[in-house]
Parts: sequence; C-alpha cells; structure tokens
Amino acid sequence: MLRFDFKTYTKDFLKEESYQELLKKKAKCIEQLRQSTMAGWTEEINSELVEQIQAKAEEIKSKYDCMVVIGIGGSYLGSYAFHELFKKYYQDSSFEVLYAGYTLSTKYISDLLEYVQEKNVFVNVISKSGNTKEIMITYEIFKNLLKRKYGEQFNQHILITTNEKEGYLRKEVEENHYDSLPLPDHIGGRYSFITAAHLFPLALNYDIHIIVDGYYDGKRYIDEAFQYAFTRKMLFDQGKVVENFCVWEQNMTPFCEWLKQLFGETEGKESKGILPTSVVYSRDLHSLGQFIQEGNKILFETFITVNKDSHYIDYEKENLQKFTNLMITSVEKAHFQGKTPIIEIELSELSLENVAEMIYFFQLSAAFSAFLMGVEPFNQPGVEVYKQEMSKELND
Ligand code: PA5
Repeated sequence: MLRFDFKTYTKDFLKEESYQELLKKKAKCIEQLRQSTMAGWTEEINSELVEQIQAKAEEIKSKYDCMVVIGIGGSYLGSYAFHELFKKYYQDSSFEVLYAGYTLSTKYISDLLEYVQEKNVFVNVISKSGNTKEIMITYEIFKNLLKRKYGEQFNQHILITTNEKEGYLRKEVEENHYDSLPLPDHIGGRYSFITAAHLFPLALNYDIHIIVDGYYDGKRYIDEAFQYAFTRKMLFDQGKVVENFCVWEQNMTPFCEWLKQLFGETEGKESKGILPTSVVYSRDLHSLGQFIQEGNKILFETFITVNKDSHYIDYEKENLQKFTNLMITSVEKAHFQGKTPIIEIELSELSLENVAEMIYFFQLSAAFSAFLMGVEPFNQPGVEVYKQEMSKELND
C-alpha cells in the first residue's frame, strides 16, 4: 500500500487556479496514454510467459553459481534496483546476479571476469534494439569467456532477451541457437519492468507472480499519479526545475537511478523537463543539505519513505525507527522553511508488492508528466546523438 501527501509541504507554492486549470487536462492525458502505441506496459503480461520465465530461472538456479546480466538503461535498472533493495547489506545469501554492460570500464570488466573465472556462470544479454554498442562489446567479451570455459557448448550458457524481429542480437540467437525471451515492440526500455528484461533476473530470487500482481495493483493509483504529475508541473511553473528524490535507505540508491532514468528520458527533450537528482539522508544532510536549506531555490523534493520497519534496534528503550521518523519530519519542516516544497510518498512496508506497485505508479506519472509538458514520453532521440558520433568514428 502507498500513501501520498501532495499538500502539507507544498501549500505555499500551489495556486488554486492553476490546479483547476491542470485538472481539466486529466481526461486528455488519460486519452493520450490510451491512444499511444507504446503503452503496452499498462496491459496484462501473458501468464504463460510468466511461467516460462519462472521455470527457466529455477533451472539456472539449480545449475549455476551466478548469472551475469548484460544490459544498460531501461534494460537493467529495474531489476538491478529491485535486487539491491531487497538484498541484505552484509552476508547476503541470495542467488548472485552480477551486472555488466552499463560500463565499458576496463577495470570493472576485468575484475568481473576474474571474479567469475572459477564459477559456473550463466549469461543473460538484454537489449531491446539488439544493437546497443556497450551491450554488443560486453556480449562479445563474455561470449569469449564462455567459449574458453565451455568450448563448443558455450551457447547452452547464454540467454538473450531482445525483440523478435531484428538487430544484431536477434541474428546471434538464430546463428548460435541460443535460448531467448521476447521484448515486445509496444513497450520501451524504461517502461519495461513488466517484461522478461526484468522478470527473468528477478525470478532467480523472488516469486515473480507476487511482483506481477503487485505491479498491476499500482493501477489503483491513477488519480494519485495524475496528482503527482500536476503537482510537479505546478512547482516547475514556479521555477522549481529540479526534483530531488530523497530516500533514507542506502540500498534505495539504485531505485533513485531508475527514477532518474525514467523521468530524465521521458521529460527531458525540446529544452523542457524537470532535472531529476537524488540524495540519501541522513548522509547527504551533511553535504547537499546545506544547498537545499539555503542555496538557490530551484528545487523541490520527493520523499520516499517506509512506514513500518521490520527490524528492531533498541536505542534508549525505543526502536531506532522512532528516531528515523523524527529525523524525517524535522527535515521536512526545515526544508519547507527553507522554501523547498516537498511531496511525500510512503510505502506501508518494504515488500515486493509495494515496490512493484510504486513502479507502476511512477511510470504512469512520468507519462502524464510528459503529456503535461507537451513532449512525447516514449522516445529518447537525444540518446542517439553520441551513438551516431561513435558510429562515424567506427565506420559502422
Ligand atoms: O528507455 C530506453 O528506451 C533506453 O534507456 C534503453 O533502455 C537503453 O538505451 C538501452 O537500449 P537497448 O535495450 O535497446 O539496448
């Protein structure tokens, strides 16, 4: 369950007339989404595919020590964020899922290759287009590793998740007879949480039926998703051009990266958009906290908090959680006094269902936000520019 507060710490910034004005746009936004050819993420996923994914994951778990996921942007951030969120900080015993492809750092890749050298490793390459340069390079490196390890049988140890028609990876599936999972045409990368791109890596550690059900439960927040979108828009219209996502749990940092990608690529075009940033409190109260309290008044904050902590740490005969809650309310009051408006989103507890619900909620609000800004939510033409520069040099 999610709880929202769009009013308490925004009230000095929102005008009733603009609220009424934006409210009139709600039906249009819903219609724009309904008519979009890229809204496949609002439709039910095929239940046979869910079973196939879960079964394949069970097989991998029983045969391997770890799995390397090769993906970038919307093809890895969702499952990575989810895994990090539910991992234990220390002595984690979940099935090991390692991520690559999002960096061409030679140090990172050589350390990873060394780490998996003696392990029984399975590789999942994920790319909707099947052509993304970083992914192709990393794929070739890991294909060579698997050839060295398993010889001619290397193809038994790779699964490719890509579109069903075209691209380099699709050709590789056919030539090498790899196992593959589909990525549908009508769902873009950063909206692809409810596809094999994320569900397969997640199925190694979780019952994805719970995640799938939770995700669609997020549909009940359509009103709140719109309210969030137009609260952001009203704040933006008053010069609040930066949204600072604030979390209180270190392992929520990758979830903030997912949020930054979702909103950054959805809204940031045609010289428009709110710049998403993120902080982890308390840590960043002692760094960016100074800027937020007294610096340039360009930002608003979105707090993502968890109501019920399942852990008990005794501090002065109270659960430590009491002090965290006190800290949250104190920071809200302080930042609001410092002219930083705050939107609150609270999870009743940190559960698979709640996080999946929250993902649907944010996807819906990102799409609505783009419609309110007057930009197309589901493309990212700006990302192509560096790729074209690189292709020119490589004569691709
Ligand atoms: O949201 C998006 O569509 C992008 O961020 C893509 O996910 C990213 O560029 C990776 O693309 P691909 O999956 O085609 O390799």
